[in-house]
Amino acid sequence: MTGMQAASTHPAWQALVSHHAHIGSTHLRELFAADPERGTRWSVSAAGLYLDYSKNRVDDETMALLVALACHCGLQERRAAMFAGELINTTEQRAVLHTALRAPPSERLWIEGTDVVRDVQAVLARMATFSEQVRNGAWRGHTGKRIRHVINIGIGGSDLGPAMAHESLRHYSQRDLDLRFVSNIDGTALAEATRGLDAAQTLFIVCSKSFGTMETLTNAQAARAWSLRQLRDEAAVARHFIAVSTNARATAAFGIAPEQMFPLWDWVGGRYSMASAIGLSTMIAIGPDRFGDMLAGMRAMDEHFRHAPIERNMPALMGLLAIWNNNFLGAATQAVLPYEQYLSRFPAYLQQLTMESNGKHVTRAGQPVGCETSPIVWGEPGTNGQHSFYQLLHQGTRLVPCDFIGFGQSLNPIGAEGARIDSQHDLLMANLFAQAEALAFGKTAVEVRSEGVPEALVPHRVFEGNRPSNMLLARQLTPHTLGALVALYEHSVFTQGVIWGIDSFDQWGVELGKVMAEKTAAELADREPAATIHDSSTHALIQRYRQLREERA
Ligand code: F6P
Repeated sequence: MTGMQAASTHPAWQALVSHHAHIGSTHLRELFAADPERGTRWSVSAAGLYLDYSKNRVDDETMALLVALACHCGLQERRAAMFAGELINTTEQRAVLHTALRAPPSERLWIEGTDVVRDVQAVLARMATFSEQVRNGAWRGHTGKRIRHVINIGIGGSDLGPAMAHESLRHYSQRDLDLRFVSNIDGTALAEATRGLDAAQTLFIVCSKSFGTMETLTNAQAARAWSLRQLRDEAAVARHFIAVSTNARATAAFGIAPEQMFPLWDWVGGRYSMASAIGLSTMIAIGPDRFGDMLAGMRAMDEHFRHAPIERNMPALMGLLAIWNNNFLGAATQAVLPYEQYLSRFPAYLQQLTMESNGKHVTRAGQPVGCETSPIVWGEPGTNGQHSFYQLLHQGTRLVPCDFIGFGQSLNPIGAEGARIDSQHDLLMANLFAQAEALAFGKTAVEVRSEGVPEALVPHRVFEGNRPSNMLLARQLTPHTLGALVALYEHSVFTQGVIWGIDSFDQWGVELGKVMAEKTAAELADREPAATIHDSSTHALIQRYRQLREERA
């Protein structure tokens, strides 16, 4: 099947529907009781990550049917086509080659007569030189002062990847460099990011694959004006503005010289771009070697995804389990719960990766997809979430599969007086394991009663359990681990898109709102109210906004 046929009409899908009728209500308690080895048997290791997927509501037959579905949907063929640089982003007629960004220098990949690996390596070398200059102070601002603040201006994939990577790898960053991220068109973002800063010590990296994104260009112009208000010399732009883009013409028009522009390519999707020059801020923060470690982690997962059989393939298994939870168990959302403070932005990053990729309603052939597509991804780090929304996870009426992420070693070990040096980390991990266990096994009414709970309270104290989760563990959060995690989710998202037969690499759904906002912005700029070209609600809202805008405080 190559996207011409809706997944749900395929015999392998129908077999899963029938299978669900048998296993659908089987409790994880029964599944674990039936197989004492389950907790280790349903696990897989790759690229320094360990995945325990035993707490999913699946048995051998489920997994075999899911693997069969993947084969019937052409997962191996689509995977090979992606790595080979075929135009698998069909609606935009583009190759999808973020994996080439982490290929080793020795590899060759020819696309239309160009070795893209060589191009990638050349840009990485330029990035390394520039990053080192900023890090060691050789790159000076216009007045000769050292750069102390780096502000990345970009949105979507030109923000979320770098912002997430900076936060995730803060432990490894050069602390005398202060990195900030401005994405929102809301002027508050830039105002707060620049408040009190010395423009002579501030470097802006304007990241935009297209260099046509309204938010980024508007913020870049405002940043330029802010800089020049302090530096009072147009020539300063050359020392304080760097661009990352595919669009050399637009960056030149902005006033950024070619040598201050780092390229990327059409075949890097925005949400798949953090390993490209879009990651320049990451490299400045952690240095070229550690950036290389991150690429190596991605590469290790790429290689695993490319070569491991589907039934032992971590990203493929995660993708297939997501399909099972979503399309057969009816879970509309997916929680991502890192028990690692540094990964606080990881769920937000995954929202774009997952939902912009797979929030689609038609197949690659333009036919209705015929089933639910991307789950809604959300999450917060543990243990914070436990004291806010976990109530719903445990006792709510909705099924929310959870991905838990934890590490063997803390980057900031703290021990209580007289206890192990990292005893606080033990508490964190104890909570992580307890949550997954409680979700899976719950607490029966019999167990509740045996604790002497008054009968009226028994229903309130029962946990039905049977709530699926994945557990991802690694030794420590490092650039390598982060790279492996990112590539894991990228390929899991890819797997899901292949099953649904959709194009995971376009994003037409963001266009309509952009066009309408442009028209509306033109109207708001007029002093006179525009003729009614909107529906009555939008018209009234615009009128009210005009009044509010003029009202005295
Ligand atoms: O509007 C969505 C989007 O196109 C994303 O896919 C992309 O990551 C983001 O906008 C930013 O685009 P650019 O890097 O071209 O400014």
